[in-house]
Amino acid sequence: MDIIVAKNAGFCFGVKRAIDIVFETIKNKNGDIYTLGPIIHNKQMVDKLRDMGVNVIEDIDLIDKGNVVIRSHGVSPDVYRNQKISIGNINLIDATCPYVKRIHNTVKKYHDKGYEIIILGDSNHPEVIGINGWCNNQANIISSIDDITENINCIKKACVVAQTTLNKNLWGQLLPDITSRIKDIVVFNTICNATEKRQTEADYISKEADVVFVIGGKNSSNTKKLYQICKRNCTQTYLIETVNEINFNNINSKSVVGITAGASTPDWIIREVINKMSEEIKNEQMSVLDEEVINLYEGDIVKGNVLRVDQDQVIVNIGYKFDGVIPKNEILLSDDQQLSELFKEGDSFNVYIKKVDEKANTVILSKKRIDIENAWNKLQQAYDSNQTLIGKVSSIVKGGLLLNIDGIEVFMPGSHVDIKFIKDFNGFMGKDFEVKIIEIDKSKNKVIASRKAVLEQAIEEKKEEIFSTIKVDSVIKGKVKSFTNFGAFIDIGGIDGLIHISDLSWGRIKHPSEVLSIGDEIDVKVLDFDKEKEKISLGYKQTLPDPWEYVDKKYPVGSIIDGKVVRIASFGAFVELEPGVDALLHISQISDKRIEKVEDALKVGDQVKAKVMEVNKKDKRISLSIKETIERQTPKNNKSGNNKDKFQKEEMRISIKEMLPDLDIEK
Ligand code: F3S
Repeated sequence: MDIIVAKNAGFCFGVKRAIDIVFETIKNKNGDIYTLGPIIHNKQMVDKLRDMGVNVIEDIDLIDKGNVVIRSHGVSPDVYRNQKISIGNINLIDATCPYVKRIHNTVKKYHDKGYEIIILGDSNHPEVIGINGWCNNQANIISSIDDITENINCIKKACVVAQTTLNKNLWGQLLPDITSRIKDIVVFNTICNATEKRQTEADYISKEADVVFVIGGKNSSNTKKLYQICKRNCTQTYLIETVNEINFNNINSKSVVGITAGASTPDWIIREVINKMSEEIKNEQMSVLDEEVINLYEGDIVKGNVLRVDQDQVIVNIGYKFDGVIPKNEILLSDDQQLSELFKEGDSFNVYIKKVDEKANTVILSKKRIDIENAWNKLQQAYDSNQTLIGKVSSIVKGGLLLNIDGIEVFMPGSHVDIKFIKDFNGFMGKDFEVKIIEIDKSKNKVIASRKAVLEQAIEEKKEEIFSTIKVDSVIKGKVKSFTNFGAFIDIGGIDGLIHISDLSWGRIKHPSEVLSIGDEIDVKVLDFDKEKEKISLGYKQTLPDPWEYVDKKYPVGSIIDGKVVRIASFGAFVELEPGVDALLHISQISDKRIEKVEDALKVGDQVKAKVMEVNKKDKRISLSIKETIERQTPKNNKSGNNKDKFQKEEMRISIKEMLPDLDIEK
């Protein structure tokens, strides 16, 4: 018995990458882990992951928090826009196959340009459902010749893509009919190379073998297609999920057994089948389809293991009949970086087959190509999901800055460097910035980033946080930011509140700088706020003692006070006893003589001595009298005219002059 095993059996690049991402997430476990739909169409693998704590959900809305891995099939943009992701409750880990991601981008681009989208594939397949989301679910999905209806004739311009696992014969059958009906049409053959190779091998094996086992999930579309291809060539073709389903009665010692597996079949299941076969055939030799049969194709992505690191190249084992070479210029390096700093013997990573030269026994590889592709995917994903990335300023150019993000040059216009205007960018060279991607067009090699968008979002989030926690009458910390004639702006942690000048001091002030200095860190009281208008009124004086609190004790009735005239009215003068406490000196109480106008006796700024006549703390009123102090000093019924009286009159004159400097007492 001979066994032929397809070289490309099992996980394709995209599926392997998705599985690796899940295992990586398990390793760094930080919260619950879910996959959005089964990570692959393989029950055994899904069960294994469930045992490791990874559960399957069909909708993000079914959970409140945790890590959600998007499988290689990809999803529609709605998933990225889920609010739980934007508020950070759900950490979205995107394991969409880069080839599928490329279809998303193509579909979105042409849909935005007004093209009708035609997808050749199965409308119920998650990959097709996801792709359809990128054109607002308006695609024409065609899975057979019967689906090509008259409606297609009405389409003026169309963009055609294919499900990555579409049978290439079906593609060849459908495409001519579609293209003949639409005048303006762009076609992208997005059938994955991995699928094509797997199908070619399956075709080859099933022609050679007497019995074929196709291993894979019975609900896996690509496994079913392999089964159909093999069944066409070999009637004894069996679709099995595990080794237990093999019926050895179908095989005899002379049989040639072919084994292939779908893209979602784990290696260990394939290995189990091969081992079981090996046991059965005991000493019979197993021949594996060798490299002579399977060719390497330019554009393939394969796993490479580093054998040697030279100064200008890295030699890599790619499991081919000769080793691959990655020249230095096919590796992303910063200016002074050496290859030996990046690689060491035994390192393993994916490489891109750039050129297979059978005559020179060389395969030229590129790592840069994969890294750049991954970087574009990362940028695109960040753009689609509005997430931030870190970029290093690599140069200062006319109109802005250039950032390096994973090897891709990204332009940041000067107006997007900060919220405020920046005149000189020299200090930014070499700095790391958190940015958002605001425009991306891979075909034009154009990416535009904005740090301003990140800062604005942070302010919005801060505002949201402040407005959801702030309370009237609460006392909070703030920093004096700027002054105007009507008050002071206070930064309360990202947003500004205003202290009106009347709320800065209990006393009368002309400018906020009389009380505060820029940069002062102060306590402020929240007086009012309006979330809609984004306004917050603060008070400073309200955090200080109210001087009216103790006026009755400080200025008891009958006491003589010193004060300054601060305002004059027709009925009297207001005298400031201390900042915030003004008392009224009624016109009738200014002098023991009759005065016509207050201004005849007093002017603003005069210092006066007066007697406290009344204190009304509740209504904040204090009445004063100068007249009473004069009367206190003037003896009643003084008719003697002796020296003592003269002396007293003189003393009184001096006293009145002191109190009322503008009154002409000589008269
Ligand atoms: Fe990706 Fe191709 Fe596999 S599209 S998921 S590598 S079949």
